[in-house]
Amino acid sequence: MTEREIKVFSSIELLNEFARNEIANLCAKAIAKHGQFTIALSGGSTPQKLYALLAEENFQSQINWLKTRFFFGDERFVAPDSDESNFQMARETLFSKIKIPQENIHLFLTEEGNAKTVAEKMENELREFFHLKENEFPRFDLILLGMGADAHTASLFPATSALKETKRLVTENYVEKFEAFRLTFTLPTINHARNIFFIIAGEDKAKAVREVLQGEYNPEKFPAQFIKPENGKLLFLLDAKAARFL
Ligand code: 6PG
Repeated sequence: MTEREIKVFSSIELLNEFARNEIANLCAKAIAKHGQFTIALSGGSTPQKLYALLAEENFQSQINWLKTRFFFGDERFVAPDSDESNFQMARETLFSKIKIPQENIHLFLTEEGNAKTVAEKMENELREFFHLKENEFPRFDLILLGMGADAHTASLFPATSALKETKRLVTENYVEKFEAFRLTFTLPTINHARNIFFIIAGEDKAKAVREVLQGEYNPEKFPAQFIKPENGKLLFLLDAKAARFL
């Protein structure tokens, strides 16, 4: 059962404050319930200030990084130290500023093979970490997602092959407009999460937000519409600019 909620904030700063507190609450609940907090980060530019907020000195007593395991919902097929890398962005804004064991961070090993083998390696890592049997999907405590102006999310872009993947946990996805491969969690992996937060800000996303939330159901064109946790909470966190057409 999907529980969907939409929250609009007058500024991205207020949105990030709220998101940080929610992440801390989910982390504490998850650790109390099953001893760890599993979170998949989104990339791009929107979440950078949130990650910096999570790294603030005065916040460190409110979250247990030692029992937090970070993954990435998607990654560019670039070196981990590339400016394009989502891992590099998270390392700069968050990981380099907090006390977290390296083994708690599960990055795509993008220099160890072609896009397919890199995706397969992350799939194997998920299977091992979540002790999954055949046909089982990981159940993340939280998956953070952004959304592009074309309504893509993670690296699930309109009219790309990854939208059709229902068996694999992670897949490579060739994106014509970038003439490049991406690595991405598949829809079943994302929709298996306990909690999914979309964090969307800025005028340029407003049309896509309206289409995704209020337009006709056409997920091949607006992939964010495919996001519907089977048994979890779906929370859209929007700033006023992104929500202006709602
Ligand atoms: C990525 C992201 C992607 C991102 C959207 C929005 O790898 O780029 O995971 O899905 O969330 O493209 O990006 P912005 O926040 O930069 O607008």
